[in-house]
Amino acid sequence: MWTIVGAHTEYTVAVDDSGSWLELIAWGAHGVSEGPSPLAFHGRPQYMTRGDVAAVEYATDGQRPFLGADLVVIAADGTRSVSWRFVDAQFADAERVDAAQPDGGLRATFADEVSGLRVVQCYRFAPGTDVIERWAEVHNDGTAVLRLEVLGSAGFNVPTPHGARLSYLCGQWSQEFTPETVEQSRGRFEIGSGQGVTGHQFSPYLAVNDQGDLNATWGVALAWSGSWRIAADTDAAGLTRIRAGRALTDGSIPLAPGNSLTTPVAAGAYSAEGIDGLARVWHTYERHLAGERLDRIRPVVYNSWEATYFDVTAAGQLALADAAAELGVETFVVDDGWFAGRSDDYGGLGDWTPDRAKFPDGFGAFVEQVRHKGLDFGLWVEPEMVNPRSALYAEHPDWVYRVDGRPMTMIRNQYLLDLGREDVFNFVRETLDGLLRSYPISYLKWDFNRPRTEPGRPGTAPADLDLDGAHVRNLYRILDHVRREFPAVTVEGCAAGGARVDLAMAARTDVVWPSDNTAPLDRLRIQHGYLAAHAPHLMSSWVTDAPGLFDNRPRSLAFRFVLASAGVLGVGADITRWDASDRKQAAAWITRYKHVRDVITRGEVHRIGDPSQPRCAVQYMLGDRIVVLAWNPGPLDGLGRVPARDVRLPLHGLDPGGRYRHGDTVYSGSHLSAVGLPVRWTAEHDADMIELVRAGQGGR
Ligand code: DGJ
Repeated sequence: MWTIVGAHTEYTVAVDDSGSWLELIAWGAHGVSEGPSPLAFHGRPQYMTRGDVAAVEYATDGQRPFLGADLVVIAADGTRSVSWRFVDAQFADAERVDAAQPDGGLRATFADEVSGLRVVQCYRFAPGTDVIERWAEVHNDGTAVLRLEVLGSAGFNVPTPHGARLSYLCGQWSQEFTPETVEQSRGRFEIGSGQGVTGHQFSPYLAVNDQGDLNATWGVALAWSGSWRIAADTDAAGLTRIRAGRALTDGSIPLAPGNSLTTPVAAGAYSAEGIDGLARVWHTYERHLAGERLDRIRPVVYNSWEATYFDVTAAGQLALADAAAELGVETFVVDDGWFAGRSDDYGGLGDWTPDRAKFPDGFGAFVEQVRHKGLDFGLWVEPEMVNPRSALYAEHPDWVYRVDGRPMTMIRNQYLLDLGREDVFNFVRETLDGLLRSYPISYLKWDFNRPRTEPGRPGTAPADLDLDGAHVRNLYRILDHVRREFPAVTVEGCAAGGARVDLAMAARTDVVWPSDNTAPLDRLRIQHGYLAAHAPHLMSSWVTDAPGLFDNRPRSLAFRFVLASAGVLGVGADITRWDASDRKQAAAWITRYKHVRDVITRGEVHRIGDPSQPRCAVQYMLGDRIVVLAWNPGPLDGLGRVPARDVRLPLHGLDPGGRYRHGDTVYSGSHLSAVGLPVRWTAEHDADMIELVRAGQGGR
């Protein structure tokens, strides 16, 4: 039996009596393992196997034949039903599981003599967090090819004696990160993507509560940016089993003798403070993934996309840059439309040379002009793509995914390059190196505007390939390369809005773009959902002029600035059209944001209320400083004409006896927690940024 220990959480597993598998004993707050396991069962399994009932951590189809296996392997003779036996384990105890001992945790090895399959099940708490990282290393020690048909990263067992409550994030383009819940007393729930990319439809995130206790909350998320699945099975005996891993939608993967394969990390999180507490656990984890890059200042960007779309000209961009510099923006990002052949979305992708007609004095001169205004320069790219109307496609039609003899599916007038090919990988890497070496680019926005459809590489038998694995791994190689070679460059991850937001991208990009929907009330909903799973230092957001796609009630400029300040502030409006008063307000908001951004990007987050209520706020807390961003998402007319009382925002995590100052007002911690911070909405005042600081002894 081993107990792996995190910051406030522990995870205990043991080899079962027959030496067949690891079973979960307990997962929760420190000390939770001392006592009878809530996962142990009594009574005899009827009409099923022990492996279907027990809290097995990672099971083959031979071990759990009925209720879904984590790993299914087909031997060379076509037989299935592989099983294994425990071989040995390496364990580094709690004291050694820290940054100085990165190999801490547990590695338990299981082997199958018949097929030669050997699997190491790996566990490790990310240092300083309550997230346990789990993955499997799958080896073929035999003499024949093994085919992997189901390749889970891990299974997580959660006691749900009263049935499970499952919370997840779903959506579509422009509606990402919509929170939903399902009460599942029995049965299977599954989310995933078969698109070769994380996808808009679901985030690889699932939270589980017992229906009788909404405080103790377990979460699972997956660090993978290709096809994936997370399934939750709730059985009749009070157990919910979550299986997370890649989805092998193209068919099984070959594993040749002597070869091995490591699954993506499936991360498990625990909080005793409900879904919002779980969000904080994920935030801490994503900050850990950012490492030292958390300390870098994410610049206030101006992005030209919504102002100019494809109508990019040097003069137009410089006019925007002038206005942006005046507002206090730090980085000017030229979005899509800057390269040859890109006057619309029918052409140009693949030909990454600046358009001479749009930049008649040369692109280098243009970049210098932007920088001369005191702005850093950023550029949009979509390196994994090609338009048929491009020189690249004319030269390398075989570089795109294609099934021999079948038509290709066009989405947004473009095809996806087969990045798993070494020649395509080299092309993409050299393209980026070329751009980053030729121009002083300090910000790169990496976009991805279509999923993969065709599961084929011309001239290669599909059975020999793992297209999804090869593509995603090479994407990570290039992102890692960019970080290594150009450490000063801030990278923004984007995929037609938020279609590639996951833990793997959180580890490789500095910010992500959650959605193309920048309309105030729509965005408020999206950001609220996003913060359930992801940290604010990653959340890029712009103030724009966009009317609502789903809720078109207008909101003030202040509302839009406070909203975009909830993560990494940007501006995307046509600011050349803003009048002097708007510009003055905007400059003041940007100054305020710069003053509080360390609290926002690094502070402890508490979401208060939600966007369907008049009470909707996010509280950020760092040391003695608290920033509350508050919005009124409700109707504005009528406010102030009839008697009403202030909206109160109950703050969290305060010292009840402490004193907190906002301007000239001093509140007790107890008042702010129990009664709440007052805000008064009027038709003109629909949002606020409130800064509080903990006062010293005696009040002020
Ligand atoms: C989709 C992105 O999400 C947008 O921000 C923008 O970059 C467009 N692509 C450009 O084509």
